[in-house]
Amino acid sequence: MTFGIDVLDAALPRGVPRNSFIILCGDGGTGKSVFLVNIAYTFLKRGEQVIYVALDDGPHSIAALFKTFRIDIDKYISERLFGIIDAFSFRLGPLKKPHPSVIREVNPKNLDQLVHTINDVIDEWKLVNKGLLIIDSLNEIFFQTEMASAFEFVKTIRAIAAKARNILTISSLHTPTQTYQEIAKTLEYMVDGFIELRYEPRLMEIGIPLKQYIIRKMRGVPHHASWVPYVIAEDGIKMADIKKVKELMESKVESEKSK
Ligand SMILES: Nc1ncnc2c1ncn2[C@@H]1O[C@H](COP(=O)(O)OP(=O)(O)OP(=O)(O)O)[C@@H](O)[C@H]1O
Ligand SMILES: [Mg+2]
Repeated sequence: MTFGIDVLDAALPRGVPRNSFIILCGDGGTGKSVFLVNIAYTFLKRGEQVIYVALDDGPHSIAALFKTFRIDIDKYISERLFGIIDAFSFRLGPLKKPHPSVIREVNPKNLDQLVHTINDVIDEWKLVNKGLLIIDSLNEIFFQTEMASAFEFVKTIRAIAAKARNILTISSLHTPTQTYQEIAKTLEYMVDGFIELRYEPRLMEIGIPLKQYIIRKMRGVPHHASWVPYVIAEDGIKMADIKKVKELMESKVESEKSK
């Protein structure tokens, strides 16, 4: 099962097993949601359903993100291939605007209810041995509830979606603080796949935000374990120009030597 994104597939020549729970982890703005949206598109194009548990943003913003990549998400919504479990809009009260993608609304403070909702929607949509479940992001879960319950949530979703029903499940996690970096370390052991996104630290020092990812772990398949630079363009996520990256790195090394 490949992701259909060249820059990611290059490091995973055989793709990933469907029964995987994968975490996309990293700094804010590195493109976790962009990766999720583009992976979702691969599934939608193949005619597979995608359920998006939206915790960080409302359905309007998520649909807009698809549209910035010229993905006709409205078509997939009307075909019932794409749906959102809206765990964001409870905050909006009377400001909430309906969106056709929303299958259910939940308040993530009640984790049991969130788990039941995900389980019910998976059943209603008859997702077994196919489809994609996205959770964007786990931060809200860790923020809203006790640490132990949040880890339990991850274990439960992995068990009921990835393992029991063979549904590829991908969650994002941003790591702004030491606490979240520690959470990420613990999660790395619990899940099947772990992909880290970051800005190359040495280039960042000179103000160049080069994005790169590394596959830390992917159970059951071979993977390359080195940092891969990428750029987010209007038509998706692309491999960064390696020659340019090398030149930038060399100029950084030169400037360090001359100090
Ligand atoms: N269509 C597009 N073309 C080019 N760049 C884009 C496009 N859409 C988004 N981006 C860029 O992608 C970057 C990453 O956005 P994204 O929302 O995926 O980050 P994130 O890792 O999910 O962040 P957060 O942790 O805050 O949720 C943004 O800085 C944005 O400028
Ligand atoms: Mg995001």
